[in-house]
Amino acid sequence: MAIEEGSEGLDRVLVLEVARVTEAAAIAAARLTGRGNEKAADKAAVDAMRRELAKVAIRGRVVIGEGEMDEAPMLYIGEEVGTGTGPEVDIAVDPLEGTTICAKAMPNALAVLAISERGGLLHAPDMYMDKIAIGPGYPDGIVDLDRTPAENLNALAAAKGVPIAQITACILDRPRHAELIAAVRASGAAIRLIPDGDIAGVIWTTDSRETGIDIYLGSGGAPEGVLAAAALRCIGGQIQGRLLAANNDERLRAASMGITDINTKFTLEDMASGDVIFAATGVTGGSLLDGVHFHDDGAETETVVMRSKTRTVRRIRTSVRDVANRFPV
Ligand code: FBP
Repeated sequence: MAIEEGSEGLDRVLVLEVARVTEAAAIAAARLTGRGNEKAADKAAVDAMRRELAKVAIRGRVVIGEGEMDEAPMLYIGEEVGTGTGPEVDIAVDPLEGTTICAKAMPNALAVLAISERGGLLHAPDMYMDKIAIGPGYPDGIVDLDRTPAENLNALAAAKGVPIAQITACILDRPRHAELIAAVRASGAAIRLIPDGDIAGVIWTTDSRETGIDIYLGSGGAPEGVLAAAALRCIGGQIQGRLLAANNDERLRAASMGITDINTKFTLEDMASGDVIFAATGVTGGSLLDGVHFHDDGAETETVVMRSKTRTVRRIRTSVRDVANRFPV
């Protein structure tokens, strides 16, 4: 259930705390950039994120994590994290968003975390979700998952006051998107195909002048959908998501997490409500964030941290020492 407006909100000190957590995960993963080993890079990020979360004065509960308790030893859904003192919060993590792009040293791998008041983040199972997202400044409901790509793109172009040829959609480059890609091209809009990383894909829509991307379309991970919604909760924009259960097991898993109607169309507020903090640190460099730069025994990171209550967006550049000891490979 979404948190009603007017709640007290999170302690603002958490803004810096979450930045420390994503910085650590990013450095740990970046030590393994380009080594062709997705699992090792992901594990390094998970370990580092968990280590840092353990130091934060919260009673945290992981609602989006590395999997169910029996399949993930760390940061599993339901795991309690933090010092066990302080506010009760919910946490969504993606310690390494873009494991393959990190392993291949390609752009836009991120370490991502969102934190909310208890109950502020949708408990989404690890399955696909159909998503549509646009940036801020448009009338509510101008795009909708239940409309065709052409209807959505035409409505967006009209609202932006440009011909549809000047609209660009971001879509994950996957065979399952062949029909969607054909429909978008037939409408006259352009497409930026991305190899991975749809949290960044959604965030790009919020700054279309800089990124050239107006809308995010297609299916990706449901956990990534909730994290993207957390970011939009802070910076504005619209997103809808609907789970795509592949089989009965997935339907049951969703039901066990409280989603009894698998066809529910989740709005931004369903996925992220109340006061939310979102943080991402670049692992490999990209258009959203710089990647980790190593030099001598140090590392430089770039992190974006946003908070919904104040709509503050901070970019933090951090210089860390003693990297070899703190983040052994
Ligand atoms: P990982 O970091 O877990 O590999 O996720 C990368 C990603 O591209 C997500 O951004 C996206 O939501 C999901 O994978 C899409 O899944 P698939 O690769 O199965 O199409």
